[in-house]
Amino acid sequence: MKALVLAGGAGTRLRPITHTSAKQLVPVANKPVLFYGLESIAAAGITDVGMIVGDSADEIREAVGDGSALGLDVTYIRQEAPLGLAHAVLIARDYLGDADFVMYLGDNFIVGGITALVDNFRAERPDAQILLTKVSDPRAFGVAELGPDGRVRTLEEKPDVPRSDLALVGVYLFTPAVHDAVRAIRPSRRGELEITHAIQWLVDEGRDVRSTTISGYWKDTGNVTDMLEVNRSVLETVEPGCEGEVDADSEIIGRVRIDAGAKVASSRIVGPAVIGPGTLIEGSYVGPFTSVAGGCVIRDSEIEYSIVLRDSSVCGVGRVEASLIGRNVEVTPAPRHPSAHRLVLGDHSKVQISS
Ligand code: G1P
Repeated sequence: MKALVLAGGAGTRLRPITHTSAKQLVPVANKPVLFYGLESIAAAGITDVGMIVGDSADEIREAVGDGSALGLDVTYIRQEAPLGLAHAVLIARDYLGDADFVMYLGDNFIVGGITALVDNFRAERPDAQILLTKVSDPRAFGVAELGPDGRVRTLEEKPDVPRSDLALVGVYLFTPAVHDAVRAIRPSRRGELEITHAIQWLVDEGRDVRSTTISGYWKDTGNVTDMLEVNRSVLETVEPGCEGEVDADSEIIGRVRIDAGAKVASSRIVGPAVIGPGTLIEGSYVGPFTSVAGGCVIRDSEIEYSIVLRDSSVCGVGRVEASLIGRNVEVTPAPRHPSAHRLVLGDHSKVQISS
């Protein structure tokens, strides 16, 4: 069995931190979301990975390389334009040959991995197996409608009026039957060859298309609350350890990983938390569920339940909570004088000012 991992895409959706970077490299607990997918593919016993890349090919190649560090053998397949998920299958035809395969969208995060799913598919070999999850706004996803027997009846891509709250998760298992489907369909209204349409084609042809509904699913939709939450749940499983330096005036409590070259001085870190390579924490408190990436400085500050991306600094600002701070950001105190508040507030704002 092979894997087809999709790490292309235009990434046009407005996200807080990914407008300059591939969406598949958004970090969760200081590790790109794509790596969790690749690790779960390796854990399921698959080594051959075809990686579909687009405009951000260089960035993806730099991060993943030949895949050997993850126990994978990665072959890059260039998609000249984001023409859809079924188009990715079409251009991977030679690479995939007659193998069954799992198609994995690189910006999706599946809690608990895919091993059980892959094992089940190997044993039963339906023509296609999709994953579904309940979401609050299905309009942003492919949406499935199941019949009373639990079989997949219809699939629609990002419908205005969804027929259910079951969204297609970005992990699909296929036999070579899908190759007929991706050749048969035509581009959608948005000009893409949709995998949703290819699977619908299989359903209409009377092929065996099964679904499994899961919980514990996340993808970057620009929602900071969700991102902090997935970061929290992954931090709870992080392997604690210290490869950096912690001075005698500091205290490390609970599940904390401190990477090589990081320094902690006169500070208190309460896990779960990760501190990236070369980061300096000085005179500060880092509270639970915080990921600080490499090359950062946290000085004379308190930070909790937050994500700080690489090469940023938070200095002398008191307490920061539930925040997502991008790369190369500087957070500093406002000058004390003149002591007036400068406000730009929208309608219905509620602001608390301590003065
Ligand atoms: C794609 C699929 C959609 C699926 C989603 C999951 O959409 O077309 O059916 O629900 O991935 O991530 P995209 O968000 O790439 O447009």
